[in-house]
Amino acid sequence: MSSPSKADLIHVFKGIPFTTRSSPELLKSLDNFDAREDDVLLVSYPKSGTHWLAGVITKLYNTQVTLTSPLEFGDISKLEELNKISSKRIIPTHLDYNMLPSNFMNKKCKMIYIIRNPKDTAVSMYHYYRDNPNLPTVDTWTAFFDLFLKGDVVCGSWFDHLLSWEEHKNDKNILFLFYEDMKKDLPKTVKDISVFLDLNIGDHEIQDICKKSSFSEMKRNTEKENSNPNHTVCALTSNRKLIFRKGTVGDWKNHFTPKQNVRFEEIFNEKMKLSKMAKGLIYEF
Ligand code: A3P
Repeated sequence: MSSPSKADLIHVFKGIPFTTRSSPELLKSLDNFDAREDDVLLVSYPKSGTHWLAGVITKLYNTQVTLTSPLEFGDISKLEELNKISSKRIIPTHLDYNMLPSNFMNKKCKMIYIIRNPKDTAVSMYHYYRDNPNLPTVDTWTAFFDLFLKGDVVCGSWFDHLLSWEEHKNDKNILFLFYEDMKKDLPKTVKDISVFLDLNIGDHEIQDICKKSSFSEMKRNTEKENSNPNHTVCALTSNRKLIFRKGTVGDWKNHFTPKQNVRFEEIFNEKMKLSKMAKGLIYEF
C-alpha cells in the first residue's frame, strides 16, 4: 500500500497547516468553546516539552483534574466532549494565540506557555515527522530544515507562534516557561508553577514530583502502558512511544551543518529582532 500523500494528511486553516486529525469543522467552531474560569491551558509549539509539563502539572493537584486531549484534536463533537467533563480541566493546545477561543481570554483562564530553543525543537520535530504516520514523509534533514524555516510544517512557523504569544507576556494569567530551565533546575520550575496555580506544595512533594517526571521515569512508564489516545497531549499522535526520544539540550549540534547554523541565525535574528524572549533562549549548557 502506498503511503498517504501530503494532501491526505495536512490541510491549511487560516494560513496554518494542521493535520487532518484536527477537522476543519472543529477549527471553525472553536470560537464557540465554553471556557470555564478554572480551566488551565497548557500551550506549546509542538516538540517543546508539552508532555513533560503536563506530567508535572497533573501531579501538582491533590484534587481530581482531567488532562484532556488537545483542544484542536478531533471533529466537531469535541466541544461537546469537553463540555461533559465535570472536573477541573487541564487543556493542552498548540494553537497560535490568535486562534484561541476568545472565551479563554474573557474569563482570564490561566495559561502556561512552554518555549524550547528552536534548533532543538526543529530536530525533535524532524524525528517526529520521520516516525509519525500522521505526518507527511520527509526524506532528509536538509529538506526538513528548509520546511521548518519556511514555517511549512504542522502548526506553522515557530517564530510566528512564539511572537503571537509573546505579545501577551505581561498578562497576569499567562506564565511563560523554558524547557531548558526545566532541564537545569526542575524543582524551581515546579515551585514557580505551583505558585502561579495557587497550589500549596511542600519541598518534599516537589522532590517527589521531579523524580516521577524525569525523562527516564516518564519513558519507562510509557513503555509499560499500552498507548492510550487520552494520554497524548499532542494533536499529532496517539502514540506516546513517539514522544520520549532523547530529552536533551543541544542535540541540534548533531544535525545542523555550520552553513545551516549561519542561515538559521540570520533568519532568527531578522524575525525575532523585537523579541525579548528570544534573547533568553539557551542552546547548550
Ligand atoms: P526530543 O525529541 O528532543 O527527545 P512534546 O511533548 O511537546 O511533543 O515534546 C517532546 C520532546 O520533549 C522530546 O524531545 C522529548 O524527549 C522531550 N521530553 C519529554 N519528556 C521529557 C522529560 N521528562 N525530560 C526531558 N525532556 C522530555
